[in-house]
Amino acid sequence: MAARRSRIRGVGSHVPERVVTNEELTQWMDTSDEWIRQRSGIETRHWVDGATSTSDLALEASHRALRAAGIEAGDLDMIVLGTLSPDHDFPGTACYLQAKLGVPGIAAIDVRQQCTGFLYALSIADQFIRSGHSQRILVVGAEVHSKSMDISTEGRDISVLFGDGAGAVILEGCDLRDPATDPHILSTHLHADGNFAEALCMKAPQTAVEGPRITHEMIDAKEHYPQMNGKLVFLHASKRMPESVHEACEANEIEVGEVDLFLFHQANLRINQQVAKQLGVDDSKVFNTVQRFGNTTAATIPLGMHEAIKAGVLKPGMLVMLSAFGSGFTWGSALLRY
Ligand code: COA
Repeated sequence: MAARRSRIRGVGSHVPERVVTNEELTQWMDTSDEWIRQRSGIETRHWVDGATSTSDLALEASHRALRAAGIEAGDLDMIVLGTLSPDHDFPGTACYLQAKLGVPGIAAIDVRQQCTGFLYALSIADQFIRSGHSQRILVVGAEVHSKSMDISTEGRDISVLFGDGAGAVILEGCDLRDPATDPHILSTHLHADGNFAEALCMKAPQTAVEGPRITHEMIDAKEHYPQMNGKLVFLHASKRMPESVHEACEANEIEVGEVDLFLFHQANLRINQQVAKQLGVDDSKVFNTVQRFGNTTAATIPLGMHEAIKAGVLKPGMLVMLSAFGSGFTWGSALLRY
């Protein structure tokens, strides 16, 4: 009997129109185009205007993924959405997206695993399909960072790195006949180490205090903005991402060199160059978008996937490795035949 697997049937993405250059950031903080490019490779990022929310960006990306898949929202049986910048604390942003797509009734799950959010979401969706529970799942990563960053000099180490955007894939069940050629997700590998939770986090609102979750004092102390130990994050990302790529290769008994394309999380060009070097992979096999979009957290991988398709770099039949690292710390990988 053919094994039940999931495959990517359609991919879509969306970034807001407004482009913010490194130069523009200098009006709010003491920074420079040279510093940002040298440290991160980032040249521009996109920011939303007005009341645009995370689920608004997710909606546009989802419509595009549905169109690419040639199906309607009514054909979906689940939504799994990764974000660290939800529309509201609760309910989950997947619920808002579900309502905007006009498909009440289907399951809607939020995943809170930051930069590894899309990989966690993809893995969850893959398990639901493998088990026979679901047939068509919308998997989304979406973020609006521009509304929750300190864009003064005090917050410059973080705020220059992040951008807004969304990416979505339609994951569909299939009966695997030839594992060597049929498009499908081969495996996913997820990890976390909560001992490093405070190396990259946003403290407020919080319940780990006496009294209300958010106070004027917390806001004065800027605890409602993210804080990061950049060097520690860099160090761990450069170690964990290659590790997770090797894990996926070993699980599928392939060599790293057999992978056609690497779609890494887009935090920093220097991290990805370091990871490629450690893996012995030529930079030409790594598709980077961080230069244009900055770090869009849970959105980077599906956004990069869509850009790679549009650029003609990601083609049917390719063996593709996804890998990410982020706050938590969380990290992981996925190997798929596109
Ligand atoms: N513009 C100008 N100067 C800045 C700056 C900015 N945007 N941000 C920080 N600086 C300053 C620092 O204040 C520091 O000044 P000092 O030496 O006078 O104290 C100096 O630049 C060097 O800072 P440092 O932290 O040593 O730089 P770095 O080489 O470690 O690069 C990061 C900083 C944040 C770019 C880097 O650590 C990084 O990319 N880390 C990973 C972050 C990440 O990817 N996070 C998301 C993970 S999912």
